[in-house]
Amino acid sequence: MQTFTRYAEVTAALADPGFTVVPAGGDGGPGTLDWLRRTVCRFSEGETHRRRRAVVERELARVDPAELRRAARVRPDAVAVLGRALGVTDLETLTAAVPVAAAGYLTGDRPPGADAAVAALVGLLGPGPDETVANRIAILVQACEATATLVRSALGLAGPDRWDAESLVVETLRFAPPVPALRRVGAGTPVVLDVRSANRDPAVFADPERFDPGRTGPAHLTFGSGRRPCPGAVHAVQIAAGAVEALR
Ligand code: HEM
Repeated sequence: MQTFTRYAEVTAALADPGFTVVPAGGDGGPGTLDWLRRTVCRFSEGETHRRRRAVVERELARVDPAELRRAARVRPDAVAVLGRALGVTDLETLTAAVPVAAAGYLTGDRPPGADAAVAALVGLLGPGPDETVANRIAILVQACEATATLVRSALGLAGPDRWDAESLVVETLRFAPPVPALRRVGAGTPVVLDVRSANRDPAVFADPERFDPGRTGPAHLTFGSGRRPCPGAVHAVQIAAGAVEALR
């Protein structure tokens, strides 16, 4: 196992098609967490990845980030806000099911109730072709924990200064990334891309250990970069900014 900690190494690996994502395994049937992981863009490569990612981009293109921010001020919950924007009406079932599915989504663990949660989500985000339904679910599952963690961290780091919510959120993403590492396989070897360290690389960030929402300069790597950056980055920042405005 190799770990990359420098900004330049992490950025190069994220751009290099020789470093691929770890494929989803598991043999669970249709409507299970295994099925979800096997059918989303996040764990696929090549033409399959392009086709599935296009589903996500098409769905997100219909959602106005400014409207998400307004909605998050009223209900500071990324899953509810995005779910409503995607046309889900039963937000109670949605907000109960998404965290259960999300708990095993990145790792492939199967926490109790995960398959039932995914089945409930298929009911809420279908009907449609498998790849459409799975990647609509993926939007909510990907958004769930990362955005909630981001909001908590931003509120904790805010201090007495009244930074505007967006600057606060963006610096929180650099300083305390909710997803602190990414995984790849390069030349058959598992590689960890340590985003948290890369975001504090002194070769790139001035005074990197200082939390400074006023900083300008290079972008953090918390949304990835290169071949497959987070397609929900703008949405995540607007939801988190709205939630911070509501909660601080
Ligand atoms: C603080 C919140 C978020 C963080 C830190 C985050 C981070 C990331 C990162 C680092 C990746 C790339 C993973 C890799 O290269 O291996 C990613 C992918 C993805 N994110 Fe986000 N994300 C966040 C919120 C969201 C939101 C709100 C959405 C949807 C609206 C979303 C949807 C996705 C999807 C669908 C992918 C898979 C893209 C692909 O494989 O092509 N994320 N996210």
